[in-house]
Amino acid sequence: MALGMMLDRLSPQAPDALLALIRLHAADAREDKIDLGVGVYRTEEGGTPVFAAIKAAEQVLVDKQDSKSYLGPEGDVGFVNALMPYIFGRDATMGGRITGMQTPGGTGAVRLALALAAKAGVRRVHMGVPSWPNHAQILADLGMELAPFDHANPDGTANLDAVLAAINSASDAEAVLLHACCHNPTGIDYTADHWAQIAAAFAASGTFPIIDAAYQGLGQGLEEDAAGMRSVLTAVPEAFIAYSCDKNFGQYRDRVGAFYVLAKEQSTLDTAFSNANALARAAWSMPPDHGGAAVRIILRDPDMTKQWLAELDEMRARMRKVRDALAKAGTAGRIDLTPLGTQNGLFAMLPVTKEEVATLREEHGIYMAASGRINIAGLTTGNLPKFIAALSAVAN
Ligand SMILES: Cc1ncc(COP(=O)(O)O)c(C=O)c1O
Repeated sequence: MALGMMLDRLSPQAPDALLALIRLHAADAREDKIDLGVGVYRTEEGGTPVFAAIKAAEQVLVDKQDSKSYLGPEGDVGFVNALMPYIFGRDATMGGRITGMQTPGGTGAVRLALALAAKAGVRRVHMGVPSWPNHAQILADLGMELAPFDHANPDGTANLDAVLAAINSASDAEAVLLHACCHNPTGIDYTADHWAQIAAAFAASGTFPIIDAAYQGLGQGLEEDAAGMRSVLTAVPEAFIAYSCDKNFGQYRDRVGAFYVLAKEQSTLDTAFSNANALARAAWSMPPDHGGAAVRIILRDPDMTKQWLAELDEMRARMRKVRDALAKAGTAGRIDLTPLGTQNGLFAMLPVTKEEVATLREEHGIYMAASGRINIAGLTTGNLPKFIAALSAVAN
């Protein structure tokens, strides 16, 4: 090979579309511009502050942490275990059938879940679309095939028939990936009755469930948001769960997540876990500690836990208030906003064209993904009237 020629074999990759949107928004001098792009929670004032409970726990770390020596591929086991009652309920290990490890964010957990599924012979993953774009990217990177089905019906409800068909048709070399709650990007979650049918389908078919729980507590409540996932886990012999604390503890850049395996017996659990450990060791050796340690400190201290729960309640209440106001507005132009009132979490999809997204940005300073996904938390009592008026004018 000629000297300096290897990198010429690479072709440029498209930059992350939302990062490009951040730059455009930053360069816009209009004072009343509205950022509905990036998927982080925002207060009524537009900030994404560090939780007070996290600040307090970080202070404890500063004062008391006596070493930063290595832990192991499983990270902070105290963190992993302290989360379990919140995710899985009172019987947090489901009779010793669940074990977990810390990961670099929910992304690391999804990556590990899919890599371990691939190692166990899964070649194809059924998933409702649209979905978090990184699901497809991770599958492609692992050389796994994506079998898409429509997640939502046009009326803003979840497409139960499509998910049941995917579960019932999946072979031994396939798995089904579901969002636990606060579906990204649609905000459309399965109802309790849907989850009961989904759980029964998994149980009857033997199809392997992979559940991505990135927004627990941002929808209807911590327990409520976990109920559907738990109904599946109690019905099946084995499953993977990818969990993120980056939204419900506001830890985004500290990369806090966990990966859990449910297995039918101890020996299978141990073997699966040893494989997860080996994959984690080869990928990142051990996860970053700081954010997970802060979560562990919070969850082991009743007062700090109370504070975290109150902060999470406040976030959820604010997003519900915005959703209620959107639903109350009824329509904006041809767009029916009423389904947004019963949907959950940070996101919703507006049925707007790419051209309308561009007009909203250029003429009204309203920034959203080209897909029409909006961040509900980017809306406030202050900017809602402007948003609805602009949408009415553009999407007519
Ligand atoms: C559905 C879904 N899963 C996983 C993640 C990953 O979250 P994290 O920032 O913890 O990697 C996200 C983040 O946006 C998400 O929307």
